[in-house]
Amino acid sequence: MGLLLLFHVVLVAMVASVPCTHAWGKDGHYMVCKVAEQYLTRKASRAVMDLLPEEAEGEFASVCSWADQVRFRYRWASPLHYINTPAGVCNFDYERDCHNSKGQQHMCVVGAINNFTMQLQTYYEDPSSEYNLPESLKFLAHFMGDVHQPMHVGFDNDEGGNTIAVHWYRRKSNLHHVWDVNILETAKRKFYDNDLTSMIDAIRTNITDEWSDEVDEWKTCPEKSMACADGYASESIQLACDYAYKDVDQGSTLEDDYFLSRLPVIEKRIAQAGVRLATLLNRIFSRKVAQYK
Ligand SMILES: *[C@@H]1O[C@H](CO)[C@@H](O)[C@H](O)[C@H]1NC(C)=O
Ligand SMILES: *[C@@H]1O[C@H](CO)[C@@H](O)[C@H](O)[C@H]1NC(C)=O
Repeated sequence: MGLLLLFHVVLVAMVASVPCTHAWGKDGHYMVCKVAEQYLTRKASRAVMDLLPEEAEGEFASVCSWADQVRFRYRWASPLHYINTPAGVCNFDYERDCHNSKGQQHMCVVGAINNFTMQLQTYYEDPSSEYNLPESLKFLAHFMGDVHQPMHVGFDNDEGGNTIAVHWYRRKSNLHHVWDVNILETAKRKFYDNDLTSMIDAIRTNITDEWSDEVDEWKTCPEKSMACADGYASESIQLACDYAYKDVDQGSTLEDDYFLSRLPVIEKRIAQAGVRLATLLNRIFSRKVAQYK
């Protein structure tokens, strides 16, 4: 009995200590990387497989939530999951917005994408690279997902929606969590019989049918930076203003109207994140033939 009680206490403590998330939930990241897997060139795929840890068993998507699991071990990386813009400002300005709470420049999701892109570009050059490339890959895969989640580029006064308490149907939540987890979870249950694979298949099908005209545009990068992430952050804050924050107040109850009008936005963001992650990895790993291995 004592042991059972102890077990109970530990369990409650564990559940209570789950941090307010700052990333698409596990499903969101998994979906992004599942989409990406399909668009990798053979060369990029070979490099990715080479950098995956044993436990991934050759599945790229299985490492895409790793960056959330190490949030407490790698404290320095925790501002790298998001961007805050000033209250009410619906655009992204790298100089103004890309820093951590101590004001250190580049410490935001766009800076991180550039950083880990740069690190991975050393893959063919130096077998004893100063970087931990398996970790660089896991970070990059994760942050390309995060930068597409509209609430990861939100206002600083509400911490990207984290401090906006809402009800998701009858459950307590917050606006950030609605976009990380609740919308996808409800969609999976209502429309896909709780089967993540069929939801991923539906998104993949849309990429080849519904959105096929747009996909080339998703891939193009009008900026000078290799990773092109400034533009993705700008799109996110715009979507945050037009869809996520819209008609939501402290204490709002969000249900079918909100769910059904926002779900297509999220599904397209997952598709874009996946296609663009693959495009970026293809670019990174296209450069040279491997000199070792
Ligand atoms: C870049 O990565 C290194 C670890 O390799 C880390 O120490 C640094 O803070 C990162 N900077 C950004 C902007 O991501
Ligand atoms: C597929 O595209 C249609 C039309 O844009 C959209 O209504 C639907 O929600 C999309 N489904 C998925 C799974 O992306």
